[in-house]
Amino acid sequence: MGKAVRLDKFLADAGAGTRSEVKKFIQKGLVQVNGEIVRRPEQKVQPPEDEILLNGSGVEAAPEFVYYLLHKPAGCVSATEDKREKTVMDYIPSDRKGLFPVGRLDKDTEGLLLITDDGALAHELLSPKKHVPKTYYALVEGRVNDEDAAAMRQGVDIGEEKNTLPAELEILSVKEQDGGWQSEIRLTICEGKFHQVKRMMEAVGKKVIYLKRISMGPIVLPSDLKKGECRPLTGEEVELLKSTGGMR
Ligand code: URA
Repeated sequence: MGKAVRLDKFLADAGAGTRSEVKKFIQKGLVQVNGEIVRRPEQKVQPPEDEILLNGSGVEAAPEFVYYLLHKPAGCVSATEDKREKTVMDYIPSDRKGLFPVGRLDKDTEGLLLITDDGALAHELLSPKKHVPKTYYALVEGRVNDEDAAAMRQGVDIGEEKNTLPAELEILSVKEQDGGWQSEIRLTICEGKFHQVKRMMEAVGKKVIYLKRISMGPIVLPSDLKKGECRPLTGEEVELLKSTGGMR
């Protein structure tokens, strides 16, 4: 059995209009419940058992939670609100209350960021105990070498109580550039400390000059999703995330 809710709340949550707009629709007789016109916005309904029509078309209940995959551009902060800065929420085409980013990327970091209102799932994905892997692509000043990769595998000192957990560093290229050296790497970490990738590379004497997250657990940044674009996660992706978080 579905939960009993006020008819006007049900319609507003389903995206049929604002609370005052849907009240007007109801009062005008545009809304039917199980084939009967209902004119009281406060009437309780119990979807999906109750069939609700607006202007003759069925209204689907809002999902319990929503999940977006954002390709975060540089220049915005991973917060729900900020007085001065643009936030990642400015890229989400929803005014649903309670949406927030799952973890943080630095203002200058790009790439995959999940946005949801499912607090339990976010909590699981961010839990230090769950060791959810996150992979980053980075452009780094200096010549990254096999010793650096070995150090990452061992764990490095970034000034925290303990060394970092083992991380996998893959060297993609090492090139001479403008009289110095630049390396492209992929680094997979299973923690989420503040500026972690930048601090880990600093620990081996290298400076990150560009950083992009390319995956989080089973979710990979789609190559056709441009910076600043987002799309809802598919049902399958949500299920994968839930099993990663140990919720399945
Ligand atoms: N590590 C960093 O240093 N910055 C990020 O934004 C994410 C991981």
